[in-house]
Amino acid sequence: MGSIRSWSFAAASTTILVADSAVATTDGISTCGETWMAVNDVTIGDGTDHRSGFNSAVDRFCSSSDVDGATVKEDGYLSMATETFLSGGKDPSTYGLLGFLKSTTRRARITKLTVGSSHLPERAKYSLSPATKCKNYLKTLSSEGKCYGDTNKDTKGGTYQVGDNEVSYHALANIIPPTQDALNKAFTEGALSTQTVNLGGGPELDPWPFDSLDDVLPVAVHSHNDYTNQQIPVFQALSAGCVSIEADVWLVDGDVSIGHKEPAVGRTLGKQYVEPLKAILDHNGGSVYKANTTQGFSLLVDFKSKDDETLDAVVKALDPLRQADYLSKVVDGKFQEKQVTVVASGDAPFDRISKFDGIPGKDVFYDAKLTDLDKEDYNTLNSYWASAQFGKAARGDVENQRLSGDQTGKIEAQVKAAHDKGLKVRYWDLPGDYIWEQLSALGVDRLNADDMSATARLPRIS
Ligand SMILES: *[C@@H]1O[C@H](CO)[C@@H](O)[C@H](O)[C@H]1NC(C)=O
Repeated sequence: MGSIRSWSFAAASTTILVADSAVATTDGISTCGETWMAVNDVTIGDGTDHRSGFNSAVDRFCSSSDVDGATVKEDGYLSMATETFLSGGKDPSTYGLLGFLKSTTRRARITKLTVGSSHLPERAKYSLSPATKCKNYLKTLSSEGKCYGDTNKDTKGGTYQVGDNEVSYHALANIIPPTQDALNKAFTEGALSTQTVNLGGGPELDPWPFDSLDDVLPVAVHSHNDYTNQQIPVFQALSAGCVSIEADVWLVDGDVSIGHKEPAVGRTLGKQYVEPLKAILDHNGGSVYKANTTQGFSLLVDFKSKDDETLDAVVKALDPLRQADYLSKVVDGKFQEKQVTVVASGDAPFDRISKFDGIPGKDVFYDAKLTDLDKEDYNTLNSYWASAQFGKAARGDVENQRLSGDQTGKIEAQVKAAHDKGLKVRYWDLPGDYIWEQLSALGVDRLNADDMSATARLPRIS
């Protein structure tokens, strides 16, 4: 199910200048929604990975044995969601994120034709097998690289209305997935709707369909302030291939809640990070990325409250991952890497972490101070990363988006010092993501990212 590995390659190769606002391109289609997607399959990651476009998502829908040849009841629906690459109207080879195309056929009883068959191009009227007909209608939406409905003042969006007592076809994309079990599976009860996202303390979002992540290859990126920058914590970062993710935590009533400036009550570290990560690991038979089972993953917990109990509450919240033996830890005086390494930063207490005081599992590590590496005895038994604010570490502005020789020298020296201690390097507060490639070339291990879509251009880890 959900196998998108055997594509024939028809990558869009038009070069498009990326403007700030979403720009419709000949490689994009919105099906009248706000969400633009690539029409064709696309290579991303500088040629190291690929994603599915609109047309192959349509193929999967129309060729599914649940859909092809099925009878849609009068006033009934047949819906399915499948993967597609959402590019925001920009060049999909360098910008975009995995999303979902929801396709629906509806058999409506139409007594008076409003948007009738006159909208159909001749070729869609041919008598075809059901699958071919379905593809023909839906692909007509993208055939001119623009939204059919918009052109025709059809407010329904992404719709082909075929005629009196006939079937109409819809295709709309969204970054928010339908429910967890809705991937590449037909539903007949009603139109498949998208989940709502609650960023307050309300009910949880259903997990992203796990199988949609099967083909994602990891990239050396850290999802910075993941819970606030991304609409959907954890899942959006994983769909981009991030190997690290960040949650800021505050002590609230003996538990830790996440939040940037203040805690979002009810959004606990356990509910929004620990439980989803464990569910993914369980589903994938013990790896975060199915496409690379040896790739390690970091959960950066940035302590926003100074109270001593914050660490105790973090240790407690991690328990489901610990019980399943997914956490990296120190065993017999040696670092043992497991699927998830917990890195504590911000106001986390180094003195306690370095002695595992209150951490009986010895499974929380420190984010060492990259520009002050000699201040403490940072090593692989107490730390995992070494980080610094970019401007402070590299001293000054980056002119014309190029690091100066002086800045390059500083970064090289910092990277070497951290690597000599066995620690991975990350800079935060970057001047812009244009700096990623330059930092990578200098040996920086984790690139700080706020916009997950921008990571599409980075080569995957291999
Ligand atoms: C998987 O990830 C590891 C660790 O980052 C890397 O060394 C390896 O090359 C990757 N394997 C593949 C097949 O890409």
